Amino acid sequence: MTKPQNRVFSGVQPTGNLHLGNYLGAIRNFVGLQDTHECIYCVVDLHAITVWQDPKELASNTREVAAAYIASGIDPETHIIFNQSKVAAHAELAWILNCVARIGWLNRMTQFKDKAGKDREKASVGLYAYPVLMAADILAYRATHVPVGEDQKQHLELARDVAQKFNNDFNAADFFPLPEPLIMGEATRVMSLRDGTKKMSKSDPSDYSRITLKDDADAIAKKIRKAQTDPDPLPETVEGLAGRAGADNLVGIYAALADMTKADVLKDFGGKQFGEFKPALAELAVAKLSPITSEMKRMMDDDQAYIDAMLEKGAERARAIAAPVWAEVRKYVGFI
Ligand code: TRP
Repeated sequence: MTKPQNRVFSGVQPTGNLHLGNYLGAIRNFVGLQDTHECIYCVVDLHAITVWQDPKELASNTREVAAAYIASGIDPETHIIFNQSKVAAHAELAWILNCVARIGWLNRMTQFKDKAGKDREKASVGLYAYPVLMAADILAYRATHVPVGEDQKQHLELARDVAQKFNNDFNAADFFPLPEPLIMGEATRVMSLRDGTKKMSKSDPSDYSRITLKDDADAIAKKIRKAQTDPDPLPETVEGLAGRAGADNLVGIYAALADMTKADVLKDFGGKQFGEFKPALAELAVAKLSPITSEMKRMMDDDQAYIDAMLEKGAERARAIAAPVWAEVRKYVGFI
């Protein structure tokens, strides 16, 4: 079996309220890898159900992430877009890897601690094993590179540990490549528009905290106008953003949307007031986002059949890549 050199795998959860953080921190980076890598982009519905999801909403949210991938410029003909539950290899390999990963490793995962909260006894077993399923996603295709946000770095480390231990335990040489994280862009961490010290989140009770991929131009402009800042003008240098979380966040968003560095944004706007910067940011955000949001809306309103057919085709191609890997895994483990 040939070894892929530059195969990318990544995933986004269909949990609703796709927002600017998902776009700038993940989806936009996925788009940029298409010229240089063979890309597999998954809608991770198996991961989503580690916490309760309303079945109707899960279906709609799954289509919405698929539409966001396409509307953002991922080409489902050259590359692969599909939803995780359609390819059995994810769940099958996850079981094997559950038997490779150690409880001690999972006990160190900070995201589980955050998501499970105080009442850990009531968290699902799936939520605990979530990082092992993520390792299976990547290793099922022997992917070499994984674009992720900062918050997923620990899970990717775990995937590397699992790959290494499988290779050692089963005398499999370097059968599973150790996947490399790709962490990109100025605004991989987009913060809440209401509180620049908290991450932009789908579950924040305030709608004004996030720009979603369902917002129209008016909503985008309004949310930016109301974004939390401070009374001082913008600083001339990046160092001047220290201790000014709201300002730092807006400059970071501008930089990411315009493909500039924060330093370059401050060359243009240093010394100016937010009264001037915010309208410029709103205009930029609308220009960059509204082609995407309107195409998503069109697909969701008029073209669900296309989305569904595209996901099915993607799944078929994904199965074809995963099948020989799974066959090898069975041999290593001793399954007849
Ligand atoms: N855990 C990732 C997130 O919440 C989503 C994900 C699932 C993923 N499987 C993956 C990302 C595999 C990269 C590779 O953002």
